[in-house]
Amino acid sequence: MTRMLIVGPPGSGKGTQAARISERLGIVAISTGDIFRANVKAETPLGVEAKQYMDAGDYVPDSVTNRMVRSRLQEPDVQDGFLLDGYPRTIAQVEELDDILASTDQQLDAVLQLTADDDELVSRLLGRAAEDGRTDDTEEVIRHRLNLYHEKTEVVVAKYAERGIVAKVDGIGPVDDVTERIMAVLKDAQ
Ligand code: AP5
Ligand code: MG
Repeated sequence: MTRMLIVGPPGSGKGTQAARISERLGIVAISTGDIFRANVKAETPLGVEAKQYMDAGDYVPDSVTNRMVRSRLQEPDVQDGFLLDGYPRTIAQVEELDDILASTDQQLDAVLQLTADDDELVSRLLGRAAEDGRTDDTEEVIRHRLNLYHEKTEVVVAKYAERGIVAKVDGIGPVDDVTERIMAVLKDAQ
């Protein structure tokens, strides 16, 4: 159970839970959002390109994101497994990941789907806005990110569900409780 994805709408707790799962299972957590933000901060060409999309709450084009993930998954630290946070988000990205994994004879063990209703998500992200000032945490952009998730990423979850590898976890409640729910479904899936 070492090659996994964590999927869910903005604010569902992907980053929060990914850090905990990564520690418990001893696998690296890779967040495409975090990689993009680091590049924006460092003003690399990738960051300069990604910034306009991120600030608007749009997805960075598949070609750019896919190239970045392909390269990241060639790093030595993914040998023991990985937890991808926030990728794939489109069907084209699912196909890219299938191709990356097939080329090294690997396959996904599980897709963790975190759920929470839109009102809870908006209130969490507005709460975070005050603390860490992410430029995409304004109410208008948050709503747009949520719509994009419903429009483009729910079909990604459905695609993995067809493969029988989705473990759905209720993301509402104390952070520790959500972590325990995740660990329980992962155990059941083994
Ligand atoms: P990304 O950084 O992935 O943002 P996101 O998907 O919108 O999700 P967030 O990071 O906002 O939320 P999260 O689910 O990680 O929740 P968190 O744990 O932080 O992507 C940003 C942008 O990058 C995208 O919009 C796009 O432009 C680009 N991008 C990234 N990946 C891409 C891809 N594959 N393709 C194209 N473009 C891509 O929690 C949120 C808040 O809630 C925190 O304050 C937290 O403390 C709190 N919280 C967490 N759990 C709980 C709980 N159980 N109860 C109460 N509060 C909680
Ligand atoms: Mg995140």
